[in-house]
Amino acid sequence: MKRNLVFSLTFLLIISSCTNKPVEEGLTAKNGMVVSAREEASKIGIEILKKGGNAFDAMIATDLALAVSHQSAGNIGGGGFMVYRKANGETGALDYREKAPLSASKDMYLDKQGNVIKGLSLAGAMAIGVPGTIAGIFEVYEKFGSLPIETIFQPAIDLANKGVVVTTKQSAKIKSHLKYFKLVNKEEILFQEEINAGDTLRFPNLANTLDRVMKKGKDEFYKGETARKLVDFIKDNNGIISLKDLELYEAVWRDPVEFEYDNLKVISMSPPSSGGVCLEQIMKMIEPYDINDLAHNSLDYIKILVEAERRSFADRSYYLGDPDFVSIPKEQLVGKEYLLERMSNFSFDSPTPSNEISYGNVEILESDETTHYSIVDQFGNAIAVTTTLNGSYGSQLYCSELGFFLNNEMDDFSSKPGSPNMFGLIGGSANKIEPQKRMLSSMTPTIVEKENKLFMTLGSPGGSRIITSVLQTILNVHEFNMSMNRAVNSARFHHQWMPDIIKIEQNSFNSKLIQELKLFGYNIDYKDPIGIVDGILVKPNGILEAGADKRGDDTAVGF
Ligand code: DON
Repeated sequence: MKRNLVFSLTFLLIISSCTNKPVEEGLTAKNGMVVSAREEASKIGIEILKKGGNAFDAMIATDLALAVSHQSAGNIGGGGFMVYRKANGETGALDYREKAPLSASKDMYLDKQGNVIKGLSLAGAMAIGVPGTIAGIFEVYEKFGSLPIETIFQPAIDLANKGVVVTTKQSAKIKSHLKYFKLVNKEEILFQEEINAGDTLRFPNLANTLDRVMKKGKDEFYKGETARKLVDFIKDNNGIISLKDLELYEAVWRDPVEFEYDNLKVISMSPPSSGGVCLEQIMKMIEPYDINDLAHNSLDYIKILVEAERRSFADRSYYLGDPDFVSIPKEQLVGKEYLLERMSNFSFDSPTPSNEISYGNVEILESDETTHYSIVDQFGNAIAVTTTLNGSYGSQLYCSELGFFLNNEMDDFSSKPGSPNMFGLIGGSANKIEPQKRMLSSMTPTIVEKENKLFMTLGSPGGSRIITSVLQTILNVHEFNMSMNRAVNSARFHHQWMPDIIKIEQNSFNSKLIQELKLFGYNIDYKDPIGIVDGILVKPNGILEAGADKRGDDTAVGF
């Protein structure tokens, strides 16, 4: 954004008086705030803060509470990323992404003719990556934890024993997955019966697993009784994860991606997530344009974002992968000259077809579930965490004895060059399967500073749509002066290079605009939802404002 202050202020006044309805604020709080996919989890996080715990203690408690109350995505059988900014301005990132097992291989999802075997990376034990969540939680605790581990774990254990009341959205999701649960699991699982909104689900086996991990530590999950039971279960379902795989798993501290945009500093997740790099590319590609002179979600605004997004996703598919395995030309990819050159054929007069940027044709198969939560504590520390099983309920494989679902994160690898994964993303050799490698992610937990102070913490589920959802939310606040609540709940659109389609949320854009986009030459398709963003904004007076996305059951709790 190149801001002409007088013009901008006048324009903002016009915008807020006619286009944007009055700013609707989300929940506000003075001391601390947790925004997550479930009220139970946000409440548990806040209780930890009220006991004097910090954002990192609350992160662990909230994560575990989501593993109990939001089992389609919250997990101990998956992995995730955390970005943090401490009150003193120190920043960092934790990678507890799943890894390919030791006996994984490049062609493990291909048949003899070299074709992708449908579903093998998506459902059942072959789809599972070595889980990272418990390692991540203990890494956070060792570095930053301040309360006794029992104080942090016990609320989630109690919740699992007491039970969780099923919401309408959860019951619909469970119903839509029953046929897959039946196909994949040998025996009846807890989720086999039809479950209705208002029913209480109890998880005693998950409570026992969490209790053992609380008492014996991380090794219980990676080397102890839980590890042995998990490996036996996976073997029994024809999977390849071994005890050695679990023993070798470690979470890794990484340097986050950090860059400036106007007077903001954006701190986001580095590879093996593509989130931070793509966010930096897109924001730097659009920065030369006067974004705040355009109306929100107007034709020209959509053109600029879409064209930057397609260029960035084309780079993603070629260059990005696990930095422990491939060398990523990061500085080049986000270089000013490079990005100017990348946008040099952008024009407001006609779209740039994706196949002129690179080649490839894809069809998509979609399903989705991941979860993001944001926390700011009473000391001024902030965290952004996105965690996932990949698809809703991951591989659909539920280990009844231990009480949790296992991820299908292996689908985030590129099974075959040019062949799309469940988000329609295509990848190349940088993201090919190799033993012990982490699969490329789009998860974009992000913290934003303004003039050296904490400004926002946010993130989203939604696969490839995560990056564009986080992008639009930051722009909504920064360029269009929205409250956090309004910013997360505004309509979104998405382009990911291939397929060459703009996805828009149904009933959110007027038919005239859609017609104009089509006339301009864009292919339009509908997708609901595009991201479920949770975030916290620090207002100029220091008050925290929550944005809990109405697209989910997301809830903010503050104090
Ligand atoms: O890491 C990734 O990019 C995907 N496994 C995330 C999956 C996801 O967001 C599904 N959600 N809605």
